[in-house]
Amino acid sequence: MRTYQVESEWSMDHLKLAQRPEPQAGTGQIRLAMRAAALNYRDLLVPQKGYGSRMQDLPLVMLSDGVGVVDQLGTGARGASLGERWCPMLFQGWQAGAPDAQKLSRGLGCETDGTMAEWLLTDPLSAAPVPAYLTDVEAACLPTAGLTAWRALVTDGNVKPGDVVVVQGTGGVALFALQFAKLLGASAIVLSSSDDKLAKAQALGADGVLNYVKEPAWGRTVKAMAQRLSGRDGADHVVELGGTSTLEQSLRAVRAGGTLSLIGVLGGAKLDAPLGLVVTRAVRLQGVTVGSRDDFMAMCSAMAHSQMRPVVDSVYPFEALKDALAHLQSGKHFGKVCIDFD
Ligand SMILES: NC(=O)c1ccc[n+]([C@@H]2O[C@H](COP(=O)([O-])OP(=O)(O)OC[C@H]3O[C@@H](n4cnc5c(N)ncnc54)[C@H](OP(=O)(O)O)[C@@H]3O)[C@@H](O)[C@H]2O)c1
Repeated sequence: MRTYQVESEWSMDHLKLAQRPEPQAGTGQIRLAMRAAALNYRDLLVPQKGYGSRMQDLPLVMLSDGVGVVDQLGTGARGASLGERWCPMLFQGWQAGAPDAQKLSRGLGCETDGTMAEWLLTDPLSAAPVPAYLTDVEAACLPTAGLTAWRALVTDGNVKPGDVVVVQGTGGVALFALQFAKLLGASAIVLSSSDDKLAKAQALGADGVLNYVKEPAWGRTVKAMAQRLSGRDGADHVVELGGTSTLEQSLRAVRAGGTLSLIGVLGGAKLDAPLGLVVTRAVRLQGVTVGSRDDFMAMCSAMAHSQMRPVVDSVYPFEALKDALAHLQSGKHFGKVCIDFD
């Protein structure tokens, strides 16, 4: 089968198309004939061994997200039927509940081979069926970006109608967060480096927008926007994707008793913010790392109910993974960059 893998050294130069033997489903396994995949920011870090010693030895098949059709059932594999479309979960084996070291130990495209292969072996509790109304490419966007935003806002965040959610950027996680906020009856304020992207975010339902390059110290302005939307003293929830460069502004924008979902470190990974803003105002800092299979199933039901569609920026063929990664790296995308295996 064809794969796209980091071959013999950790570098983008060693990202190569390769051939491997066609895998066969073993006891308890299902085999997915992969149809589409989607890129995440983490896939830019993987080829340079960005996740350190926990990563699988080379060669490593790229990407954590994808969707395929069940085309083989191993002995004793229950719950899946041939012909169904399933997504493998990023964290293989995290079925439900709170995360622990064991549940976070087998991440696709990092600790184990990923989705850029014609076939992928998994098991029915490490993968889940996807709604029929989604295209293959749309379904491929769900396991990382979709599920992370869902876990942040719903499972951990408990966002309610009337709340104000602040979303940083217009990439994969950010636009899912915008769409879920609207689905939950909350208002959304979107921050972006581009006025064109902010206009697109408004078309998707953003209630307030701000250019974080033109106004780097945006915390008080966003707080005032949130006050106008909800009558409270700031935003209820901030989807924190910037890290070092945004944390202080997020703390200035959030209301007393509000929540920051700490998800990304696009602007640095060191904690450098006045902790008094956390302690004296009882702000909750909640780390988020993707989600469980149960979260995924709940997200799919909610999406199917409202027929919500992921925002797909662009689609590349299998052999153009490097071009797709370069596009993601450029930051020009709005939503998800995807791979169509056809
Ligand atoms: N914890 C988890 O489980 C988890 C899961 C998924 C992703 N993540 C992390 O979340 C972050 C976003 O991932 P993604 O896959 O959604 O990325 P992405 O699709 O590549 O989106 C990145 C976007 O974020 C905005 N951005 C870039 N630098 C920024 C900065 N310094 N401050 C604020 N916004 C900035 C830009 O939007 P504009 O062009 O609109 O400015 C950029 O297009 C990454 O750090 C990733 O590692 C974590």
